[in-house]
Amino acid sequence: MKLKEKVAVVTGGGSGLGAEIALQLVAQGAKVALVGATERKLDAVRETIRTRGGEAAVFVADVSDENRMVQLFSEVEAVFGGIDILYNNAGVSPEGTIETTTFEAFQKVVEIDLYGIFLGSKYVIPYMKKRGGGVIINTVGTFGLRPIPNKIGYSAAKAGAMSLTRSVAAEMAKDNIRCNAVCPGFVDTPLNKGFVGEAREKFLDAHQPMALRIDSADIANMAVFLATEDARAITGQGIVIDGGTEACLYF
Ligand SMILES: NC(=O)c1ccc[n+]([C@@H]2O[C@H](COP(=O)([O-])OP(=O)(O)OC[C@H]3O[C@@H](n4cnc5c(N)ncnc54)[C@H](O)[C@@H]3O)[C@@H](O)[C@H]2O)c1
Repeated sequence: MKLKEKVAVVTGGGSGLGAEIALQLVAQGAKVALVGATERKLDAVRETIRTRGGEAAVFVADVSDENRMVQLFSEVEAVFGGIDILYNNAGVSPEGTIETTTFEAFQKVVEIDLYGIFLGSKYVIPYMKKRGGGVIINTVGTFGLRPIPNKIGYSAAKAGAMSLTRSVAAEMAKDNIRCNAVCPGFVDTPLNKGFVGEAREKFLDAHQPMALRIDSADIANMAVFLATEDARAITGQGIVIDGGTEACLYF
């Protein structure tokens, strides 16, 4: 129980990586605020947490809506008494090249995947300062380190999120607030529901040196580690969990 009495906010907590991370934070003793766009999905995760004896509450919020993000943290504090950990995880992953992506579509992914992290980080910091410190973790992804063709908006937004991670880490170290990113490779979640079957297996065989298939728990293990005091000296980093893909130029 490395996070006993800690309060964690997890955006995109209703599915995929966010749901798994929320469950693992609870397993370490944290109370979790589940944030997302769809109440039904968040409710289901809260019920799972409750059946395991944990504490969770649901907050519907669009992470790209500034007014809502300001309100959100005050609502979480009212329910749980404070905030120690923010996991900025909500995201979308549209396809498109520089030629096929409209400006509107580009703006949309940047609003959610980059502005969402800016807003979450900016407005949670006063609450963390009240607690004498805190931890922010962002889901970036390997495409934020090196882009892949046909994901122009996503790759740009995630690259921005990586840079933001480093800036927040540098600026907030004085207040005992650490900020890191997890950079997953391919994980089978609802985000990737269109990429299945032989095409996906061939892609992974060609680009991921390790033969294993990465699952949500592999990412959650790292996110939870970064949230604990075991990682007290780590800030401003993007930890890659991708079976070796990002390590090599051609595979
Ligand atoms: N699955 C992968 O292979 C992979 C790889 C690298 C990075 N990521 C990142 O991991 C994060 C989680 O994705 P996932 O794979 O678990 O997929 P997912 O689709 O299950 O999770 C994304 C969640 O974000 C929520 N969301 C989307 N827009 C939102 C908004 N405007 N406001 C609030 N919530 C919103 C969705 O409802 C969903 O619950 C994303 O940021 C994604 O880019 C995923």
